[in-house]
Amino acid sequence: MKDIKTERKRYYIKTFGCQMNEFDSERICYFLESAGFKRAISYSSADILIINTCAVREKAENRLYGHIGNFKAVKLQKPEVLICIGGCAAQSLKEKILNSFPCVDIVFGTQNIEKLPDLISQRLKFKKSICITDEDFDSHEKLYLFKRDQKFKAFLPVMVGCNNFCSYCIVPYVRGRERSVNPQQIIQEVKNLVRGGVAEVTLLGQNVNSYGKDFYPTRNSKNYDFAALLNDVSAIKGLKRIRFMTSHPKDLNKDIVSAIKQNSNVMKHIHLPVQAGSNKVLKLMNRKYTKEIYAEKYFYIKEQIPDCSITTDIIVGFPGEEEKDFNETLDLVKSLRFHRAFTFIYSERSGTSAAKLIDAVSKEEKKLWFRKLVELQNKISYEENLKVVGKKIEVLVEGYSKKGLGQLAGRLENNTIVNFEGFKKSANLIGRFVNVEIKDAEVFYLTGRLKE
Ligand code: 5AD
Ligand code: SF4
Repeated sequence: MKDIKTERKRYYIKTFGCQMNEFDSERICYFLESAGFKRAISYSSADILIINTCAVREKAENRLYGHIGNFKAVKLQKPEVLICIGGCAAQSLKEKILNSFPCVDIVFGTQNIEKLPDLISQRLKFKKSICITDEDFDSHEKLYLFKRDQKFKAFLPVMVGCNNFCSYCIVPYVRGRERSVNPQQIIQEVKNLVRGGVAEVTLLGQNVNSYGKDFYPTRNSKNYDFAALLNDVSAIKGLKRIRFMTSHPKDLNKDIVSAIKQNSNVMKHIHLPVQAGSNKVLKLMNRKYTKEIYAEKYFYIKEQIPDCSITTDIIVGFPGEEEKDFNETLDLVKSLRFHRAFTFIYSERSGTSAAKLIDAVSKEEKKLWFRKLVELQNKISYEENLKVVGKKIEVLVEGYSKKGLGQLAGRLENNTIVNFEGFKKSANLIGRFVNVEIKDAEVFYLTGRLKE
C-alpha cells in the first residue's frame, strides 16, 4: 500500500443481503481502515465505491445492477473513482458483471476480503480491472478482524459454508463447504466483545445447528456440537442476550432446545425455515425432512418452551409445485402459526440443480399464490403480536425507529420490534435495556410506552 496515498482516500460501502453479508462488510471496513482508508458518508464524496451483496434471489441481482448504474454515473463525473463488487454476487455473477459493466474495476469474492487494500493498490498501479474469487478457504485465523457497526450488539459467524445443497440455493457454491470455528476462538472473541460493551451476540452460520460436525467426521463419537457451544457461550459473564441463525430443521435437536430452555440469556426465538408444506416439493428441494417431521419438531419446541417464537422462510412457485401442493403450504401455515414468515417467489439460479427442472406454472399464478400466503401470514403475525399487548416487557434499545418523530426501536426477547417514545432520554437509551409497556400491535412490529 505504500505506492498510493490511502490516507486521503475515502470509501463508501453499500451492503445487501443476510447477516453474513453484513459481517463481511464489517471485515471490509476493518481491512480498508487498517490500510488508511476513511469511510465516506455519501457515495458522491468517495473515491472507492463498494457494493457487497448476495445473489440468492434474482431481486438482489437486479438491485446490484441498478446500483452499479448509479456508481457509473459518479465515475463519469470523476473517472478516478474505483468501483468494487464483493460478496456472494461477485462469486456467482463475475462473468456477467465484468462483461456487462466495464466500469467495474474490482470483483472480489467472499474469501478475498483481506486482500482488498492490495487489490485497490494494484488496480491503481497497473490500470487493469481485477477479478479474484478464489476459493482459498483458509483458516479462520483472520475471521474475527472486523469493525463493528454497533457498540452494543455483534454478529459473529461460528461456521461458514453449507453442505446441504438445497436444490434452489447458490450458497454452497459461493460459500463452500461447512467450516466450523474452533470453540476456544469463539469463546475468546465473545469475551472480548462483552468487555468492549456488547450485550447481545448473534451466532451466525448458514446452517448453524450443524456446528462442529466437521470436527469429528466419525458418526459415533460424542461431538462438541452447537448445543455445547450455546451452553459455553451463555456462561460468559456479562453477556445478556444470545441469538443464533439459521437453523436447518434436520439438524435442530433436543439438546439445542434444552440449551435454549435452560439458559436465560439464550433468546427464545428460532428461525426455522420450512420452505414448503408439501412433501413432494420438499423432496424436490432436497430439504431432507417431511412436513410431519418439521411439525413434530415445531410442536416439541412449543411444548418445551411455550413462549418461544418460531419464524420461517417459505418459497412459493418452486418448479413442479402444483396448486394442491401450494394449498398444503397454506394448511401448514394455518396449523403451525409462525410468528413471522419471510416469503419469496422462487427464482431460478443458474448452476443449481433446480434450474434443470421444468417450471410450468405462470408468473401471474405464482404471484397470486404469493399474495394469498402473505395475506394469511400477516393475519397470523398480527394475532400473535396482539398476545403481548398490555404486558410490560424488557427491550434492548437498538436506535431510532423508522417511524420517525424521535421514536426509539428495540427488540423483545422473541425478536419482535417495538417502537416507543423515548422522551428527552432517547439518545442515552440506545444500547440499554428498558421496560416497555406494549400498547398496540401491528403485523411487523409493536408500539409501546417506556416504563420506569
Ligand atoms: N429462490 C427463492 N428463494 C430462495 N431462497 C434461497 N434461494 C432461493 C431461490 N433460488 C430463500 C430461502 C432461504 C432464504 C434465505 O432465501 O427461503 O431460506
Ligand atoms: Fe441454502 Fe439450504 Fe444451505 Fe440454507 S441450508 S444455505 S437454503 S443450501
